[in-house]
Amino acid sequence: MNILVSGGTGYIGSHTVVELIAAGHSVVIVDNLVNSKIETLDKIEKISGVKPTFYHVDCTDLDKIEAIFKLHTFDGIIHFAGLKAVGESVTIPLAYYYNNLVSTINLSQLALKYKVNKFVFSSSATVYGDQKVPFSEDMALLPTTNPYGETKAMSERILRDTASVNKDFHVSILRYFNPVGAHSSGLIGESPNGIPNNLMPYIQKVANKKLPILSVYGNDYDTPDGTGVRDYIHVVDLAKGHVLAIEKLVDPVEIYNLGSGDGVSVLELLTAFETANKIEIPYKIVDRRAGDIASSYADASKAYKKLGWKTHKTLIDMCKDTWKFEKSNK
Ligand code: NAD
Ligand code: UFG
Repeated sequence: MNILVSGGTGYIGSHTVVELIAAGHSVVIVDNLVNSKIETLDKIEKISGVKPTFYHVDCTDLDKIEAIFKLHTFDGIIHFAGLKAVGESVTIPLAYYYNNLVSTINLSQLALKYKVNKFVFSSSATVYGDQKVPFSEDMALLPTTNPYGETKAMSERILRDTASVNKDFHVSILRYFNPVGAHSSGLIGESPNGIPNNLMPYIQKVANKKLPILSVYGNDYDTPDGTGVRDYIHVVDLAKGHVLAIEKLVDPVEIYNLGSGDGVSVLELLTAFETANKIEIPYKIVDRRAGDIASSYADASKAYKKLGWKTHKTLIDMCKDTWKFEKSNK
């Protein structure tokens, strides 16, 4: 297949591009580089032997995106492009609604116009809100606590409504749990600028002494050790899920959780990182972070049944690969 990957120089996008190429697909990337670097293309080439065609274009710019559809014939679209910082979305909601929703609308409109019938969308476990774990795809979606989460729920709705009246247009909605880790080459991964919001990037900055100490947000949750429980998934396993999702997309709307199905606490992840890399991570317990829930993990059985997909990498792999990437990108 010839696949348009929006956000393909980003964290999950770049790993997915590598797996798409390995599976024999051609890739065209569109990214405005608001949260990624052009050098990622060279790294993708080093890993896969192929430098994908790249357009430095914003997905909210309908005319410029359409120009790309005029130059290429696509069999499918994988739409990663979006802003993703939960806290920032609370302070600049309009920027988040505009960027994430207009990008989804533009790409869907062009998919219909140019008869690109396979559309895979990056959603998030955040759409489940706070309900009983494990989360399964047939559960009702609950309002999220932030505009970022709402853009995911709204984009899902836009795509479902569009697919329901355009019978050739097939949509796969992938709800990611907590992607972490990096490519085993150490070439691509995630290392946000400034102070990270998420747990693994924070741990990796403490490990290389860019930050002094990890704050653990609360140890009084109703979880085995009192700290928040999440379902961490290695980004390479996640990337492989996208390849299967687009290759096997046949129903009008398919929705899959992409997670390991295992709940891991903050302290368990911290200990795994220490064990995997033989580095001590200093930490202190602080107040809960506003908007956090106690537990989030997947019922991942549907993706296994329908796509034959499951995770293979362990928590130790996630910690080792994260540290390898952090060290090689100091
Ligand atoms: P990322 O920021 O590394 O990648 C997103 C990419 O999209 C970046 O390269 C950015 O430059 C680009 N982009 C943003 N807005 C754009 C626009 N208007 N036009 C063109 N390019 C644009 O993030 P990621 O972690 O790789 O996430 C990819 C997708 O998965 C996002 O939609 C995100 O919301 C979703 N997601 C991520 C997580 C996670 O924890 N990383 C969890 C659930 C869902
Ligand atoms: N945590 C800490 N200290 C930190 C950062 C996080 O203790 O410095 C804790 C949190 O309280 C939580 C756990 O670590 O219990 C995981 O937090 P993350 O910020 O890494 O991840 P979240 O589950 O809160 O959110 C992430 C993404 C969202 C996405 C959600 C579900 O940031 O965009 O997963 O996919 F919606």
